[in-house]
Amino acid sequence: MDYKEKIAQALANAADMPAEQIEPMIEVPTDSAMGDYAFPCFRLAKEFRKAPPMIAAGIAEKLELPECVKEAKVVGAYINFYLDNARIIRDVLVDVTEKGEAFGSVDIGHGRNVCIDYSSINIAKPFHIGHLSTTVIGSSLYKIYKFLGYNPIGINHLGDWGTQFGKLITAYKMWGRRQDIEDNSISAMLALYVRFHDEAEKDESLNDTAREWFKKIEDGDAEALEIFNWFKEVTLKEVKVIYDMLGVEFDSYDGESFYNNKMQPIIDELRDKDMLEESDGAYVVRLGEEIPPCIILKTDGATLYSTRDLAAAFYRKKTYDFYKCLYVVAYQQDLHFKQWFKVVELMGYEWAKDLEHVSFGMVSLEGATLSTRKGNVVFLQDVLEKAVEKTRAIIDEKSPDLQNKDDVAKVVGVGAVVFDALSTARIKDSTFSFERVLNFDGETGPYVQYTHARCKSLLRRADFDYKNHEKDYSAIDNKEAFAIAKLLLGFGETVQRACEKSEPYLVTKHIIEIAKAMNRFYFEHRIISDDKAATAARLMVADCVSGVIKMGLGLLGVGAPERM
Ligand code: ARG
Repeated sequence: MDYKEKIAQALANAADMPAEQIEPMIEVPTDSAMGDYAFPCFRLAKEFRKAPPMIAAGIAEKLELPECVKEAKVVGAYINFYLDNARIIRDVLVDVTEKGEAFGSVDIGHGRNVCIDYSSINIAKPFHIGHLSTTVIGSSLYKIYKFLGYNPIGINHLGDWGTQFGKLITAYKMWGRRQDIEDNSISAMLALYVRFHDEAEKDESLNDTAREWFKKIEDGDAEALEIFNWFKEVTLKEVKVIYDMLGVEFDSYDGESFYNNKMQPIIDELRDKDMLEESDGAYVVRLGEEIPPCIILKTDGATLYSTRDLAAAFYRKKTYDFYKCLYVVAYQQDLHFKQWFKVVELMGYEWAKDLEHVSFGMVSLEGATLSTRKGNVVFLQDVLEKAVEKTRAIIDEKSPDLQNKDDVAKVVGVGAVVFDALSTARIKDSTFSFERVLNFDGETGPYVQYTHARCKSLLRRADFDYKNHEKDYSAIDNKEAFAIAKLLLGFGETVQRACEKSEPYLVTKHIIEIAKAMNRFYFEHRIISDDKAATAARLMVADCVSGVIKMGLGLLGVGAPERM
C-alpha cells in the first residue's frame, strides 16, 4: 500500500526513467488542494532540454494512472496527484482489520539483539522524579524494538558500588535499626546517609571507619557483604512497587558491582596497546584535543564509574553480541559517555559505533505541589500515587456510575504521567504539572485513552456484528475519514522512525493526531444510524482507530481501559 511507490512507478514508465530516481523527487504538498502527492519537473530540465512545464505536460500525457490515483493535474511545472480517497480508506481499514496487532510492524530486527540500559537506579538512594524519563523512555524503546522484530535486552545497571556503601554500613552499625530499614527502606537509608555526613563533619574518624567497611566489602568480608546485599534487596523491593505500577521489566539487574572482577583484562589491554598514561598518579586515556582524558584508575588504584562502564560494554558485546547498545541516561552524563565510547573506538573495536547514548533533559516540578519526605527529593512513587488519587476524583465527578473505578484510576493516573514524560523530544527540559497531564481535553494520555474508550463504547452500543455485515464505504468517503486513514497508514512508519531516532514521543504525537482525527470524525458524522451498511462502515473506522491507539499506547507502556 505504498502509494508513493506506485506513483513513482507510473511516472517512471511515462518518463522512461528508473523509479528509484523518481521516488525521492516526489513531494507531499502542504496544501492538500494541490493534491496528495506532487511531482516537480524542474530538475529534469537539463536531461530533457525543455522547459519544466512542457516536461510536466509531456509526462502527464503518457501517464497511466495507478488504481489508487483518481486524477493527475498539471499545474505549471508540477504534476499533482489526487488519491482515490474512498478506495484508500477502504484499503487501510481492511488492512488494519486483517493484520490486527501486527499492523504496522515489520520484522526488520530479526535475529538482532539490542541492549537497552535504562532506569539504572542507585542502591539506597531515592527513586525520584528524575528517574522517570530514563525508566519510561527505556521501557518504551524496549517495546518498540520488540515490535519491530528485534530482541531487546533490558538492563538495569544498578549503581551498587562506591565508597558510599562503606559510609552507609558505618552509619547503620552506629545508629541504625534493622526494623526501621525493613519498614522504611530507602527513606531510612537516606536518613542514615545524611546523618553520617553531619556527624563526620564533627568527627573525622568516621570517614576512616567508612573506608574500612568499604574495603571489607571489596575483600568479600561476610558481615560486610551481608549488610550490603541486604541494602540492595530492600531497595529493589521498594522500587519493584514502582516498576509494577509502571509495568516496567528488566532482563538483567547486573549493576556496577557485577563488573568488579571484569575490569582487569581491559586495563591490561589498554596497557598493552600503550593507551594508558600516568597523570598525577592516576591512569588516563588521552582522547585528543576536543575531549578531556578518560580516567581509568584513580591515584589509589581504585576504578571508576567509567572503568565499570567499559567492562560492562565488553561483557555485553561478548554475552549478547549486540547490534546496538543503548544507554538511556540524562544529558548531565554526555561527557562521560562520549569519553568511554571514544576509548572503545581507540582500542580499535568497530562496534564502538553501535554504542548510543540516548540522552534526555530534566524534569522539574511546577510549584511545590508535592510535599517531600526528606530533603528536597520528590519520590516518584508519591507522584504516581497522587496522580491516581486525583484521577479517581475526576472519575467520581465525570463518570459516577463507572465500575472498577479504582482500576481505571490507576491505568489513567499512572498512564497520564508516563504519557506526559514521552510527549516531547527527549532533550528538552520539561516541567511537570498535574493540571496539565490530567487534562482530559489537552494533548494528554487521558484524552487519548478517552478517545479509545469512546470508540469501544460506540461498538458496544451498536451491538451488532458489523464485521460480517455488508458495508457501504461511500458512507465514509469524506475528508474526516480520509484524514484518519492517512494517519493509520503512517503508524508503522512512525514507529520505525521512533526506533531509528530513539524518540518514543513520535509515537505519542502520532496517536494524539489519530485521536484528534477520530474526534473530528465523530463530531461531523453520526456513527450509528438506521442504515446498517453505512453504520457498519463507520463502526469499522471506530474499531480500527481504537485498535491502533491501543497498540500505540502499548508501545509507550500506557494502558487503554475499555470504559472510562
Ligand atoms: N546509576 C547511574 C545514575 O543514576 C546511571 C547509570 C546509567 N548506566 C550506565 N551504564 N552508566 O546516574
